[in-house]
Amino acid sequence: MNNYISENKDRFLSELLDMLRIPSVSADPKFKEDVLRTAEFVKQRLIEAGADNVELCETAGYPIVYGEKIIDPNLPTVIVYGHYDVQPADPYELWNSPPFEPVIKDGNIYARGACDDKGQMYMHVKAFETMMRTNTLTCNVKFMIEGEEEVGSSNLGTFVKENKEKLKGDVILISDTGMLGNDTPSITAGLRGLSYVEVEVTGPNRDLHSGLYGGAVANPINILCQMIASLHDENNRITIPGFYDNVEELSAEERAEMARAPFSLDKYKKALDLGDVHGEAGYVTMERNSIRPTLDVNGIWGGYTGEGAKTVIASKAFAKISMRLVPNQTSEEITEKFQKHFESIAPASVKVLVKPHHGGEPVVTPTDSVAYKAASKAYEETFGVKPIPVRSGGSIPIVAMFKSELGLDSVLMGFGLDSDAIHSPNEHFGVFNYMKGIETIPMFYKHYAEMSK
Ligand code: BES
Ligand code: MN
Ligand code: MN
Repeated sequence: MNNYISENKDRFLSELLDMLRIPSVSADPKFKEDVLRTAEFVKQRLIEAGADNVELCETAGYPIVYGEKIIDPNLPTVIVYGHYDVQPADPYELWNSPPFEPVIKDGNIYARGACDDKGQMYMHVKAFETMMRTNTLTCNVKFMIEGEEEVGSSNLGTFVKENKEKLKGDVILISDTGMLGNDTPSITAGLRGLSYVEVEVTGPNRDLHSGLYGGAVANPINILCQMIASLHDENNRITIPGFYDNVEELSAEERAEMARAPFSLDKYKKALDLGDVHGEAGYVTMERNSIRPTLDVNGIWGGYTGEGAKTVIASKAFAKISMRLVPNQTSEEITEKFQKHFESIAPASVKVLVKPHHGGEPVVTPTDSVAYKAASKAYEETFGVKPIPVRSGGSIPIVAMFKSELGLDSVLMGFGLDSDAIHSPNEHFGVFNYMKGIETIPMFYKHYAEMSK
């Protein structure tokens, strides 16, 4: 099997680069044809790899690529989930090479989607091809690759609800997360949820001369800044009433266990050019970005931002705000609490509109399941060390639905690194990581089949 992988390494890489050339940005309708072309690309590669019944399942949005290989109904069935869409590549000028002209430099593949998630998703296609060609496939497989993860997966949610029979299986296998380091592999055992809202603050009914009116009417940008600033207190805790009501507090033992994962605050600060870290009092960095909920402004705009100066009080100001959620918060609950609070703190001098966007629920996946143990053994085999379970701060909204709708746990076998710059300029994925993924995934199938007997 490893012979097959090393003999085909160049092709495995060049096929990935071909897919990375297609700008499948799901958020921007301008890329519609490219997103559709990427779905077609994945479909063709699945067919070539040996999958049966490969099809594009239409949705109200972008299609889901489905394909399967059922070798024996008595064997366990692994459902592979991944996404072929990517985040927008802006700002383009900060890329050292164009985001959709992939290059391999210093052992890394640079391109938007290299790690999140085209590179990691394609490892599964190539691992499957490898198992097919070397006659080592030990489980049934169903692929479900979507094109709307980066915009909230709402159509996949509907697809899952409507296709429970088609999606019968034993476990969901996903590579769309990271690990601690190339010599400290880890398995993601939890993801945060998400509430995403947009707010609009309106002051006067038109833009005004900031000299004639300044000081006498509410400036919506000033007010928005004050309102946003008031959402955290001096301990960097979120001030929305009831925000922490349902938050699961970890026991001292669980926190001590977490603290055993290797982490250097110095390196962390250096890597990001930070004078200091910042966050909720009473928690360390690794807790702040995984087991604690957050509220962050993702974008804020209004008024004049062009060349030179324009003396104006804008009529409107806007912000996009994300809240990361932890068990047992729900996106509905938190969005509602945010909306109520944000409206209540608005002074009479402005009008406030809160527009909820997509959400997703937090999840914790078991670390005592057969599937987790099989994944653990797989990493141990290819990395030479036992992976540690870690809870991640990111979100994959569909994972909670796999559990609630299909009753299935997910195993999050990520091979990316935090330093891969996903969603940022110069996103990359190590060639080492890509190849390690292709080697490790078949080991999961092997152990999972053996341990399920
Ligand atoms: N693959 C990421 C999530 C991720 C990355 C989880 C690294 C853990 C480690 C996924 O594509 C993503 O970006 N999700 C979005 C949520 C979505 C609703 C836009 C996120 O976390 O912001
Ligand atoms: Mn992803
Ligand atoms: Mn992403």
